[in-house]
Amino acid sequence: MDIARIPFQIHGDSRGMLVALEGMRDVPFDIRRVYYIFATADAVRRGQHAHRTLTQLAVAVRGSVTFLLDDGTGPAEVTLDDPASGVLIGPMVWRELHHFSEDCVVMVLADQLYDPTDYIADYEQFLQEANALTFPGVAAAWPGR
Ligand code: TYD
Repeated sequence: MDIARIPFQIHGDSRGMLVALEGMRDVPFDIRRVYYIFATADAVRRGQHAHRTLTQLAVAVRGSVTFLLDDGTGPAEVTLDDPASGVLIGPMVWRELHHFSEDCVVMVLADQLYDPTDYIADYEQFLQEANALTFPGVAAAWPGR
């Protein structure tokens, strides 16, 4: 699956900790967008989509959250609870965010501006597109699979 845990360099001293993220240095893309999610209740599921081309790096800068990640071959769960590391999520990975702690703030760095046409919000549609990428011959022989 096109995901990776990335540990960040921590600049710490007696005053506390600092993490700096620079595009193409600490993060393997040019950062074109930053957004963050907060004040989400524990019972809520967010995300529930994939992106056709977007790459993102998610960091729980406070609290914890669990990501369900699925490239079409089955789900994996990753819990983020450390401001000194993130998870890199490439294109064509279905994601659902759940189990938000009350204090959770998830910061996301993205390599593209917001583009609603890059979203796949229907899981069956996602599976079709993922299978077409993995098995182009099969997808051509059995359109709709
Ligand atoms: P949404 O995609 O529903 O969030 P999530 O993926 O966490 O479930 O986004 C919520 C709203 O914010 C929606 O109206 C779109 C808007 N939005 C932007 O304007 N820019 C952005 O970069 C993002 C991620 C969302």
